[in-house]
Amino acid sequence: MMPAPLIAPSLLSADFTRLGEQLDDLLEHEVEWIHCDVMDGHFVPNISFGPMIAAAARSVWTKTMDVHLMTYHPEQYLPAIKAAKAQYVTVHQEACIHLHRSLQMIKDAGMLAGVALNPATAIDNLEWVWDSIDLVTLMSVNPGFGGQSLISSTYSKITALAQRREQLGLSFLIQVDGGVNDHNIQDLVRAGADVLVAGNTVFKADQPGQQAQTLQHLANRAHTLIA
Ligand code: DX5
Ligand code: ZN
Repeated sequence: MMPAPLIAPSLLSADFTRLGEQLDDLLEHEVEWIHCDVMDGHFVPNISFGPMIAAAARSVWTKTMDVHLMTYHPEQYLPAIKAAKAQYVTVHQEACIHLHRSLQMIKDAGMLAGVALNPATAIDNLEWVWDSIDLVTLMSVNPGFGGQSLISSTYSKITALAQRREQLGLSFLIQVDGGVNDHNIQDLVRAGADVLVAGNTVFKADQPGQQAQTLQHLANRAHTLIA
């Protein structure tokens, strides 16, 4: 049995004029994980922020942090992400010609290794690197922007990935990223998600910390029902 799923607010949708205050609010509402979206304007058609902002967030954030690199050549950012004390670094399978090497570099840097798959990318692409993976991020929207709707094929992809994990006897986490909201969260947990990234649903609410806590309660309830 996997541990209870966790809500991971995505900083992409935060109010950057009040980032420290918003992180404190999340901590006060017992949020355990935050997600930092780094974009390069090439791998995805948008630019967000780099490791410097992750480091600034880390000066407030005391819990788990993952950095989702929507960039080509993700290896070049590893030293700065290591300095920001992120636990997980996630690279895109589609961006890494030498994925095995990229994952080894993350591990050699002492961090946990994640791989993200775009909606059109099959999980079979991970067939020969399973034992190097600590986290698989299933993109439930096309990456680059917050506030999009979840693509419905995500549910069966989560279930297929959870089944493959069981066959292999592995314990990597399954993260779902994009379009998570209070209507679909329970189905995502039932499908097998362990970490639910939520940007707009958390930060566009009147009270982001409170909203994250509500999502966590919904996830907990769905988890209890399948336990
Ligand atoms: C999308 C990012 C997501 C994004 C999710 O490219 O990788 O992490 O912040 O935002 P919402 O939850 O608003 O879809
Ligand atoms: Zn992301």
